[in-house]
Amino acid sequence: MANNLLKGKRGIIFGALDENSIAWKTALKVKEEGGSFTLTNAPIAMRMGKINELAQACNTEVISADATSEEDLKNLFTKSMELLGGKIDFVLHSIGMSPNIRKGKEYGDMNYDWYLKTIDISALSFHKILQTAEKLDAMNEWGSIMALSYIAAQRSYPDYTDMAQAKAMLESIARSYGARFAKLKKVRVNTISQSPTKTTAGAGISGFDVFFDFANMMSPLGNATAEDCAAYITVMFSDFTRMVTMQNLMHDGGFSSTGITQEMVDRLSK
Ligand code: NAI
Repeated sequence: MANNLLKGKRGIIFGALDENSIAWKTALKVKEEGGSFTLTNAPIAMRMGKINELAQACNTEVISADATSEEDLKNLFTKSMELLGGKIDFVLHSIGMSPNIRKGKEYGDMNYDWYLKTIDISALSFHKILQTAEKLDAMNEWGSIMALSYIAAQRSYPDYTDMAQAKAMLESIARSYGARFAKLKKVRVNTISQSPTKTTAGAGISGFDVFFDFANMMSPLGNATAEDCAAYITVMFSDFTRMVTMQNLMHDGGFSSTGITQEMVDRLSK
């Protein structure tokens, strides 16, 4: 049921690769709620993914940008404002990639060039997006900028390796830039810490199925799906959340506040 929550608002959505992507579901939800936006992804993902299908469904355009490139980001914001007919109200950073995880490297055997790439792609890109938006004066007042995080920023998980540091940094950038952007333009900046979700990035972590099931059992409401996440992001883009900023918002069915669930007790006492 659509409520026109984002009627008249303009945005940019990063990171829709295929129909499982959190950004893909968000684009559909934002469209349903009356928002208009451009889509963007890295040049390689545009060749491999299906983003053009999504653009057609959302009646919009794709502007290629490597989120680590300041030049690409400048072009993206400038073109998006031209295409959409004004300044931007919402931005979704839904980007994550670790070459170390992709290549199966253990935490005690990190390749440091790849480690830096992980940080650049998955965390520093968020700062670059925020700084580009500020320098171009691209944001409308009371705009909302979101990125997606994971609880491995606060707790250790085997196999999440250097992405844990990337997520901790991402959340820290949201706090630091959130303070700055609030004073400058009343723009709010937050991260959503999402349950394990079956997407290309998610399934790339070894042992994913096990910690997906574990989180599901340890969350009183069960794992939040990508659709649930899209709905939460949409509300965070809306005027109903104007005073929420500099937060890492847990979207995890209660996982982060749970000690143990009865389901887990029953399972372990079998
Ligand atoms: P996904 O694989 O569909 O999306 C990741 C996106 O990052 C892809 O579209 C990819 O092309 C893009 N990307 C990679 N390098 C890029 C670059 N240099 N420039 C621009 N874009 C680039 O997977 P998903 O799960 O939708 O990931 C979205 C976000 O959600 C990520 O930040 C991820 O860490 C986060 N997240 C995912 C969870 C999961 O279990 N799937 C749990 C919690 C957070």
